Order: sequence, then structure tokens, then C-alpha cells
Amino acid sequence: MRKEEKKADTFILKGNICYSKTEKEVTTIPHAYLLCRDGICQGVFESLPDDYKEYPLTDYGDALILPGLVDLHLHAPQYAFTGLGMDMELLEWLDTRTFPEEGRYGDMEYAKKAYRIFTEDLKKSATTRACVFATRHVPATILLMDMLEETGLQAMVGKVNMDRNAPDYLCEDSPEKSAEDTLKWLREVKGKYRNIKPILTPRFIPSCSDRLMEMLCEIRREYDLPVQSHLSENKGEITWVKELCPWSAFYGDAYERFGMFGGDYPAVMAHCVHPTEEEIALMKKNRVFAAHCPHSNTDLSSGAAPIRRYLEEGIHVGLGSDIAGGHVLSLFQVMVGAVQASKLRWRLLDETQKPLTVEEVFYMGTKGGGAFFGQVGSFEKGYEFDAVIVDDARLQTPRKLTLKERLERVVYLSDDRDIAGKYAAGRRII
Ligand code: GUN
Ligand code: FE
Repeated sequence: MRKEEKKADTFILKGNICYSKTEKEVTTIPHAYLLCRDGICQGVFESLPDDYKEYPLTDYGDALILPGLVDLHLHAPQYAFTGLGMDMELLEWLDTRTFPEEGRYGDMEYAKKAYRIFTEDLKKSATTRACVFATRHVPATILLMDMLEETGLQAMVGKVNMDRNAPDYLCEDSPEKSAEDTLKWLREVKGKYRNIKPILTPRFIPSCSDRLMEMLCEIRREYDLPVQSHLSENKGEITWVKELCPWSAFYGDAYERFGMFGGDYPAVMAHCVHPTEEEIALMKKNRVFAAHCPHSNTDLSSGAAPIRRYLEEGIHVGLGSDIAGGHVLSLFQVMVGAVQASKLRWRLLDETQKPLTVEEVFYMGTKGGGAFFGQVGSFEKGYEFDAVIVDDARLQTPRKLTLKERLERVVYLSDDRDIAGKYAAGRRII
């Protein structure tokens, strides 16, 4: 009996294995064995170790096996309008597209339909982990968590807090009501899930009154929660934060003064497109993660984030689709977008900051963002076992490519049709 249990938790995948140890290079090992025990990666081996010979092995032939991709920032309710309204900047887009759509999630029938589409598509993608914004509604947020739990994906999900500068149908009535709903949500989901965890989600400074931020800070401490929000995405937004918080030295400082900017707990800030020097220094000091969302930054004309600079500073950087500010869910496409944005930034804004490489964006979409979840996003021993199998046979070439070249083409050209399997936290989900 014990042996059978052990067998079920221990297995081997065989294929062409590619993963990052550092952002400078991708490790590629052809026709190798990837070992999983109790949800944890035991490493990659060129030949199967003797003590693993009795365990189940899945041979994926000539396919590539990669760490599952990590989407460090997206809005589940916004999936319903991806590709629409891409002719506006952030603040106008929030008012005309985003808030009206998010207002619909007070209706559970609508939420069920919309979140079904979202969770099915996320499950089919190469993503295994995500940091997800829901809406301010407690029942629909719990529904989203229930549905994500069923997919087997690993996710942190946040009930959004917003008590100012939004239309009545979406704005929370008071800081007290927002805090009360947050506690209700946290109590209801406590211990409920295996795969899904709550994350505190003040939408952004313009949406949250000072009083609300103070109350959320207490809740954060009491429940020991990580935090996700938005930072320095758009110039108009940054000016507005200065008006709303005249006492703040810079945008990130407004979060910092409310105890919402990392330090002794994980915090991830989306965008970070227009930081000041002081903001960069504080992100570094507090180990704040930057969720780089290149498609969103282009689609909403926000700008081009100084990602090379963040890497030089040793700031953690992951990638985010930022659905629906960004129009694609595919993290491979987000990797491509990150390379492209960095090239335009280099050419047009700052020739001292070299463009990002495929190795670097692959790292960000796996191990870089994965670090927000702990030891995630690599096949080094001790990492949680998230893997995606990509069969690139459709991407034919007249000559044989190296494994590294094949990975590059998978990043640029593959889509969900090419996914032959997916594992999250040691369990097969596709
Ligand atoms: N800032 C505040 N809310 C949002 C949002 O929904 N999307 C983006 N991109 N930025 C935001
Ligand atoms: Fe966002």
C-alpha cells in the first residue's frame, strides 16, 4: 500500500528538456529524464537513475519539456473584452471599458459564464501559475477561485479593493465596507483550496482611500498575505497619485507609507514603466517584484518599462499578460512582446540599455516570475514540479535545428495547439 502511494507521487518524464538557472543562458538537455517526487523536482538526468527504474515514465518523444510559465499579472474579469478598446490610454480605458465590464460580476450567472471561458483558456495555455485580479465582488471572486482550483493550475487570486474614483455600481460604499468584505472573503476561503491562495489586492492608489489602505495594512498583517497592485504605469496616473497623496515622495512611497510595498512579505507591482530613481531604490530595498506587461504597455500607450535597468539592479522581474490591458493570454507571446518593447526602447529612448534577449525573457516568464511563488519555474532540484510539454513538429524546418533554436521558435511561433501535456505542482492537468 505504502509503496503504491509512493509510486503515484513519483514519476518520470522523458523528452528534450530546457530550463533556466540564470537569466544569461538556457540549459538544454536532449532526450533526458525529469524526475518528480511528491510534487518536487528531483533534477534532470541523462540516464535514468537505478532507484527510479520502477516508477511510471511518460516518454514525450522528440517534444520539448519546459518549466510551466508564470503569469505574474492578469485580470480574470477582463478576459471578456480582450482586443476591444485598444485605442485609449489607461484612465479613459478604465472608465469606458473596464469598470462597466467589472460591474457585471455582481451577477453570478454572468460571472459563471465569463469565468468558465477564462479558466478553460488559461488551462489550455502554457501557463501553470498566475497572480490574478478578480473584481470587488466576494461571491464572484470565490466562484473564480473554485473554478481555478478545479483546473489544477496554481494561482493567487485577489478580491479587488476600490472605494473611490469609480462609478457607483462598482465602487465600494466605504473603507469599512471594503475591509469587511475582504475579511468575509478571507474567512470563507481559508483552508478551502489545495491550489489557490488569496492575495491582498488594492486596485491602485487612485482607487483606494487612505483609510482603506490603513485598514488593508492591518488585514495584511493579521492574515500574513502577499500583495499585488499597479505602479507607475501611465504618466497621467502618476500625476493623479501625486495630487491624491501630496505627502508622498513618489508613487511607490504612497504604498510604502501604508505598509503595502513589500519588505518582509512578497509584493508584486504591475508595470513599473515610469519609475523615479528613488522608486527603483525602494523596489530594490523592499524586494518588490516588477510584473512586466509589455503588450499592455503598448496597447494602452503607457510606454516602455526600463527592464534592463531592473535586471542590472537585481530587482525581481516576471512577466504579465495584464489581460485585458494586454490582448494576449499566451506568455510565450508576452516574452516576444518584451523583446520587441526593449528593442524600441533601446532604439528610441536609451541606447545605453541593450535590448532583452530570448534567454532573459524566457527566464522572466519562468524562474523570474516563479520566485514570487517560492521555488518555482525551474527544473533544478527542489523546485516545485511545474512542466509544460510542447510538441513543435508543426513548426517544420528544412534543416535540423539545435534544441536552443527549437526553443526560440517555440517562444516566437508556438500556440496552444502545440501543447502536449502540462503539470502543476506535480500533478498532470492536461
Ligand atoms: N490600474 C488600475 N486598474 C487597472 C487595470 O485594470 N488594468 C491596468 N492595466 N492598470 C490598472
Ligand atoms: Fe493590470
